[in-house]
Amino acid sequence: MQRLCNPKITRLTGITRPNVIATMRRVQTFVAMVFIGTVFLVVYSTLKLEMAYSHKVPQEDVPTQHSVQIQDRYLTTQLPMEKEKEEEREEEEKKAEVPAIPHEDVYNVSFSVALRETIPQNAAYWNRLLYSRLASLDKGDKPSALDTHWSHCRETNQESLQANMHDFASYSALLQTFVQGINCRTPSVLISQPDKCVSEKGKAHDHTFLLFAIKSNPKHFERRQAVRETWGKEGVYQNGLRVRLVFLLGNLKEDDPDLDPLVSFEAKHFRDILQWDFEESLLNLTLKMNMLLEWTVTNCSNVSFVFSGDDDVFVNTHQLLSYLQSLQPSQASQLYAGQIINSATPLRDPNNKYYIPVSFYDGAYPSYFGGGGFVISGTFLKPLHSLTHVIPFFPIDDVYVGMCFKALKVAPVAHDKFHTFDIYEKDRENLCVHKSLILVHRRSPRQLKKLWKGIQSPFLTC
Ligand SMILES: *[C@@H]1O[C@H](CO)[C@@H](O)[C@H](O)[C@H]1NC(C)=O
Ligand SMILES: *[C@@H]1O[C@H](CO)[C@@H](O)[C@H](O)[C@H]1NC(C)=O
Ligand SMILES: *[C@@H]1O[C@H](CO)[C@@H](O)[C@H](O)[C@H]1NC(C)=O
Repeated sequence: MQRLCNPKITRLTGITRPNVIATMRRVQTFVAMVFIGTVFLVVYSTLKLEMAYSHKVPQEDVPTQHSVQIQDRYLTTQLPMEKEKEEEREEEEKKAEVPAIPHEDVYNVSFSVALRETIPQNAAYWNRLLYSRLASLDKGDKPSALDTHWSHCRETNQESLQANMHDFASYSALLQTFVQGINCRTPSVLISQPDKCVSEKGKAHDHTFLLFAIKSNPKHFERRQAVRETWGKEGVYQNGLRVRLVFLLGNLKEDDPDLDPLVSFEAKHFRDILQWDFEESLLNLTLKMNMLLEWTVTNCSNVSFVFSGDDDVFVNTHQLLSYLQSLQPSQASQLYAGQIINSATPLRDPNNKYYIPVSFYDGAYPSYFGGGGFVISGTFLKPLHSLTHVIPFFPIDDVYVGMCFKALKVAPVAHDKFHTFDIYEKDRENLCVHKSLILVHRRSPRQLKKLWKGIQSPFLTC
C-alpha cells in the first residue's frame, strides 16, 4: 500500500490542513522561483542557439569561417573582413540558383510587426529562428541574400541540433529530416512550363483569370487525368474567363520504380506539369508551395486568382468562377478564401502525423485554410514569395500560408461552400448539393467524372 501511494499527492493533500498562510508564502516563493528560472532558460537558450551556430564544426574541409557563415547567415554577424568574399560568392550563387528577384517593396518592417503580435517570442527553435531573422531584417539585411545553396543548406551536426532542441532525438525521422533541411529552398527545376500563361498576341481574352495549381505526386496519373477531363479542364468559361491548370510534382525515392519517362511524356503531351528535384513527402509541401510561388512570380505573374489544392478534390469550377467574378474590386485584389480553421493549436501527440513538439514551435496557429483547396488573389504572389525568405519553413504547409497572410495583415475570408472536411454522408451522391458548393475533398477519379457530368446535365432540376 505504501508503495502505491504517490508522494506528490500526499504533499498536496497535506497543504489544506495546518498553517495555510505559511503554505501560501511557500507557494509564492515557489512561483517566483519558477518565473526567474523560466526567464533564465529563455535567455540561456537564445544565447545557446547563437553559440551552437557560431561554434559549429564544419563537416567538409572548406575553411572554417566560410562554412559557418553559409549555414548561419541569419544568426551570426559577419566579420567585415569576410564580407566582400561572401558577397562575391552570393552573387555567383544567386546567378546559378535563384532566378527570381524577390520584390523589395514588402521588405519593410510593417509585416514584422504583425508577425510579432501573432507569434510569441520564446525558447522554441522555430520561434527563435523567426525572431533572429526579424532582427536581421531590422538591421537592414536583405532577406534575398540569405538563401543558402541547395548543396549545403542541410544542417547535419547532431550536437548543434540537440543543443537547440533538447529532445531532438525523440522527433520522428521525418520531422528530423524536415528540421535539418529547413533552410533548403532552391531545388533544381526538372520540368517547367515557361509559356503557360503567355498571351497569344491579339487575343484579348487570353489573360489568365484563374490558375489551378494542384499538388500531385508523380504516381497519380489517374487522378491528374480525371482533373483534366473534369473541373480542371483548361479553356474559356462563362463571360470569357480563362482557366489554366498546372500540377506540382516532386520526385520519387531512388528505390521507387522509375516513372520519369512517363511523367516527361505526360508533360510534353499536356503541358501542365511542373516538377522539381525534391522528394515527395508530407513535410516537403511547404517547399512545394514555395516553388509554386517562385514559378508564378517568374512565369505567371499576371494571373487574377490562384487556386491551390489537392488532386483528390472536386471543384465546381462554374460556381468558383461566379464567386470570383462577383467580388468587388477591392475584395478581388485582397482575397484569401477557403474553409477556415480558427484557433488551432499544435498537436502534441507524437503519434499524429501533424505532431509538433513544444521544443520546435510554441504558440497558437493563426487562422488558416484547409490545404485541400483555397484561393488567393494574384496580387499576393509577389508579397508571399518575398515573405518565404523571412518566415522559416513550417512543417505544415496550410499553417505556413496562414502565417504569411497574417504577416501581410490579410484576414482570411471564410467561405461556407468550401468543404475540405467533406460533407454529410447522405449528401455525397446528391448532385444538387454539388451544384451549389465550390469544393469538396476526397473524391476518386471515377466520382469526379460522375459528379462533373451530373451537375452539368440539362435534366438536373434542383
Ligand atoms: C524533402 O526533399 C529533400 C530533397 O529531396 C529530401 O532530402 C528530404 O528528405 C525531404 N524532406 C522530408 C521531410 O521528407
Ligand atoms: C519563365 O521563367 C524562366 C526562369 O525564370 C524565365 O527564363 C522565362 O523567361 C520565364 N518565361 C516567361 C514567359 O516569362
Ligand atoms: C495583366 O492583366 C491585366 C488584367 O487584369 C491586363 O489589363 C494587363 O494588360 C495584363 N498585363 C500583361 C503584361 O499581360
